[in-house]
Amino acid sequence: MRVGFVGWRGMVGSVLVERMISENDFQDIEPIFFTTSNVGGIGPKIGKDIPTLKDAKSIDELAAMDVIVSCQGGDYTKSVYPDLRASGWKGYWIDAASALRMAEDSVIVLDPVNLDVIKDGIANGVKDFIGGNCTVSLMLMALGGLFREGLVEWASVMTYQAASGAGAKNMRELISQMGALNASVEDLLNDPSSAILDIDRKITESMRSSEFPTDQFGHPLAGSLLPFIDTEVDGGQSREEWKAQAEANKILANQTPVAIDGTCVRIGAMRCHSQALTLKLNKNVPMADIEGLIASSNEWAKVIPNTREASMAELTPTKVTGTLSTPVGRLRKLSLGDEYLNAFTVGDQLLWGAAEPLRRMLRILVE
Ligand code: HSE
Repeated sequence: MRVGFVGWRGMVGSVLVERMISENDFQDIEPIFFTTSNVGGIGPKIGKDIPTLKDAKSIDELAAMDVIVSCQGGDYTKSVYPDLRASGWKGYWIDAASALRMAEDSVIVLDPVNLDVIKDGIANGVKDFIGGNCTVSLMLMALGGLFREGLVEWASVMTYQAASGAGAKNMRELISQMGALNASVEDLLNDPSSAILDIDRKITESMRSSEFPTDQFGHPLAGSLLPFIDTEVDGGQSREEWKAQAEANKILANQTPVAIDGTCVRIGAMRCHSQALTLKLNKNVPMADIEGLIASSNEWAKVIPNTREASMAELTPTKVTGTLSTPVGRLRKLSLGDEYLNAFTVGDQLLWGAAEPLRRMLRILVE
């Protein structure tokens, strides 16, 4: 199987290549790497010989692939995909970008949650398999068991999203902002007798100063938060918030859509998105059953006991970052009533949130 990779040098693409190397995925395919800027250059080291880089804008070169995996972004998809299909290409298109996600003839891939939908899609001639939005995929990796059982009447999701979701440069800027804050009060910090309100005043001055590094985010994130992610859509909702209901119901192939909405917020974490959920269940399900359904839904959705100690140890971006684990904790019935479930989950937005569903989709096609 000839598999073309586009956008493998970027952040999601690099995570994908790393994961594929560690799972030996390259052994079972003929990988061909594409470039938009360095045709004829040397591709990544993947443990086997590969041809030099091909032109990612050449429809002829792309059309020679059985599968194309793109992490190059939505603009690239929009610029080559229509021409590629118009050329008569019948290969599989696997894409991290959102451009084709809600297209009628695409499937959003998250196989631990919707393998049946993926397999039906393949059987029915679907050729476009698209990765979901990171918060949506991470929510369903964690709580998909309850959605799949049809137990959720509606869900309200409040997110705490990491800098990586905005891009590699944003991760760098977050750290630069942290450094600038520290530098602005270093002397006072080193003096145990300095007044905390003097430190606070200087920090605020630094954050509000025009010198503060905000080229990427446009605003201070370190020491603060950003209460709007992506563009505005109708009714005051952000596009990120809109995706939750639209994509989750598509992933689950729900005939009757479950209402899902909330507020998406950027915080100063590096690459783990966290989410606090209120799930309105359609009946009073015992906690033991809820925990059992979550824990048995896939091998990555680990139930964390709702104690302070376990939550602090297991349910943080620091603990989860760089792993495939999607722990779910803070599970309890809210005082609102027995049908109202509280949950908190954390997941690495570059792994299950982006690269891993694509890697596994490729494996499904190869096997
Ligand atoms: N839109 C997400 C975010 C990124 O901004 O965090 C991944 O889908």
